[in-house]
Order: sequence, then C-alpha cells, then structure tokens
Amino acid sequence: MHRRNFIRILGGGCVALTTLPMAACSSSFPDEAVAAWAGPSASASLAEWALAWALLSPSAHNMQPWLVDLKEPDTITLYVDRERLLPATDPWFRQIMVSQGCFIEALLIALRERGMETQLELFPSGAFPARTLSDQSVARIRWRRGGSVSSDPLFAQLQRRHTAKDAYDTTRPVSPEGLQQLLSVSWPESVAVGGSVDRERVAVLRRLCMEAAEVEIRTPATVLESQRLTRIGPDEILQHRDGVSLNNPAVRAIAALGLFDRSQVPPPDSVAFKSTRQHYADACLSAMGFAWLSTEPGRVGEVEAGRAWLRLQLQAMTLGLQLHPLSQALQEFPEMDAPYRAMHQNLLGEASAQRVVQMLGRVGYGSTPSATPRRELRAIIRA
Ligand SMILES: Cc1cc2nc3c(=O)[nH]c(=O)nc-3n(C[C@H](O)[C@H](O)[C@H](O)COP(=O)(O)O)c2cc1C
Repeated sequence: MHRRNFIRILGGGCVALTTLPMAACSSSFPDEAVAAWAGPSASASLAEWALAWALLSPSAHNMQPWLVDLKEPDTITLYVDRERLLPATDPWFRQIMVSQGCFIEALLIALRERGMETQLELFPSGAFPARTLSDQSVARIRWRRGGSVSSDPLFAQLQRRHTAKDAYDTTRPVSPEGLQQLLSVSWPESVAVGGSVDRERVAVLRRLCMEAAEVEIRTPATVLESQRLTRIGPDEILQHRDGVSLNNPAVRAIAALGLFDRSQVPPPDSVAFKSTRQHYADACLSAMGFAWLSTEPGRVGEVEAGRAWLRLQLQAMTLGLQLHPLSQALQEFPEMDAPYRAMHQNLLGEASAQRVVQMLGRVGYGSTPSATPRRELRAIIRA
C-alpha cells in the first residue's frame, strides 16, 4: 500500500500527495531561467561581457533592479529600475540601493579582468535624498585600456557565487581565523565591517534574527509582498526569472490545485505559515557566526555597502564558507522598529544612533546552493 503524504493547506483542508501527478516533476529550475550562469556569449561587446557578469550579482528578493544605458562610448550609466522595488519590506529603498552597489562592484571586477582601467562616479547628478529615489543615474562607470591593470582574484568567484539559504552544519564551527580571513578582503573605506563567532554573542544574534523574522512573517503587507514575488513551477519561473523561485513538486502540486492563494495572508496554523517559519528557524538558529557592514546614513553609504557585500560574499566562496544575508532586523517598516533598534544596539553599541547597519549575514558551512534565475541581459539595457 502507498504511504500517503498529507499536506494541510491554507484553509485547513488536506491533500494526499500520492493522488497528484508528480512523476515528471523536477526541483531544478528550467535551463533558460538560469542560462546567465553559463557566462557571456562569445560575440558580446566588452560592455555586454562585463554586464553579463554583473547580472549574476545578488539583489534583495532577486529583484535585479538594474537598468543601464550604453549610449556613451566606453561608459555604462546605471539607473534604478523603478518598476522593481519592494515597497513593503524596503520602504526607503535602502536594500535596492545596496543591490546597486553589488552590481557596480561586479562590473568593476569584470572590466579589470579585461585589462581596463575603470573610473567610478557615484551619483553624477548628486545623491538621491534619503528615503526617496530619482530618475537620475546612480553611477557612471567609464573605462579605458590601462597599462598595468591587474585582475582581481575575486573575478573567479563571480560565476560560483550563490546565496545558501538552508540550515548550516551546526557541528562545524567557524574559527576566529576563518572569520578574520573573510573580513580581510578589501572594500570601500567608508564601510566599517564587524563580525563574531563568539558562542554567546552568536546565540543572542540568532535569537534577534529569529524575532525579526517572526515580525516579518506576521506583518500582512510584507507577507503579501513576498507571496506576490513567489514564482511557482517552470512556467512562472520562466515568465519572471526573478523573485523567490520554487520548483519543488509538493509546492507545485498545491499551487496547481489552486490551494495556495498568494493574495491571502496564511493563518498561523496553516502549512504555508509553519513551513515559512521553519525555514527561518533553520537559517537563523544554525548561524555559526555573523558578519555585518555599517556606514553613515545616506545613499552613498548604501551603495558602497553593496560593493563591500559583494566582495565579502565572493571572499566567502574563496574560503569555502557560506554567507547568507538575514535582512529582517534591518528593515525599516514600522512593525520592525523594536528588532531594528535592538539589532543596531547590539552590533554598533553607542554608534547606533549615527550609523546604519546596511548588511547582516550569517556565516557557516552548508550545502552548495543552486543558481537562481536571471532575466535576459537585454532586459536591463535601455533602448
Ligand atoms: C540587499 C540584499 C538583501 C538581501 N536580504 C536577504 C534576506 O534577508 N534573506 C535572504 O534569504 N536573502 C537575502 N538576500 C539574498 C538574495 O535573496 C539573493 O541574492 C537573490 O535571491 C539571488 O540569489 P543568489 O544570491 O544566489 O544569486 C539579499 C540580497 C541583497 C543584495
């Protein structure tokens, strides 16, 4: 007799998974959605070649909020794609700006790999005011062939970098030396870095991260935003190639039966709520260390922190470590106020009133994650 797996769904009903047609289901993403990870095409111009690497950058919710203009020769001008924001979880667009920094740093690393001397000008028309965006550019990156430009050893990691979101191996501590090696990578001067593998401090930070996650998954606006950006199954993944992509057979089956209504907040006794909570608990409570970046408040600091974050994640790859952002406690929507203040106080102490923690990530050893979808390169190039 078949062992039946019952899944309890949003409204409280049950589905027997053996009744569902899942024989041909695979959890891996459709090839086309992850084609960008094969690297630039052989016929790419230098700008397209560098952009193809930058497209592999991390971004909040995998929104890929980048738009580039290639009209000026030997120049890439970067804009925020204002269609690709996260108004509930990121109401001041801070994470969107950090994501710009990740992209810029990857571009610079790629251009140097081709022997180019680069010049980065941030906010050529002036930095956007705090908490607002503008149609002006975020950055202009120019290049020319340099005499003695050395390539960046982190280039080799661009194609290998992925964000590991599953539980880490809690039997495998991160040594203080390992943390130091991680933090020894170079980055913009305006960014201060911190980190800890101290057991007691890590225990406190794990709890703070979990408390913040609880707030996020109990706040209707942030839950609905995440659900709106959840892509289930090959068709949706291929259509969007962004957001949170889920392709495992059980979730696909539930969605196919119309039993996961992404326009509704799942009640706390539903499978959807419990499995999201479990996912956060697995991640937060298996952190074996933490690393964080802070800057002065403002758009320049946010972008510079993004540049530093990319370098840190690439360095983690070099060391065989995983580095996974846990951004919940850093988010600025009103319900997050108490965890936000507690996290800033813990990480920055007295400086917490004058500085902003731009990124916080857990460190540890875990399984190798798979590549996440990316849109086509032409989707980010302005006509
Ligand atoms: C500013 C920023 C904030 C992020 N915050 C989170 C987070 O809180 N939780 C998480 O799982 N991933 C977070 N990420 C990682 C993204 O989800 C990830 O980069 C994206 O899904 C693409 O996947 P990849 O990094 O494996 O290419 C963040 C990334 C950035 C740049």
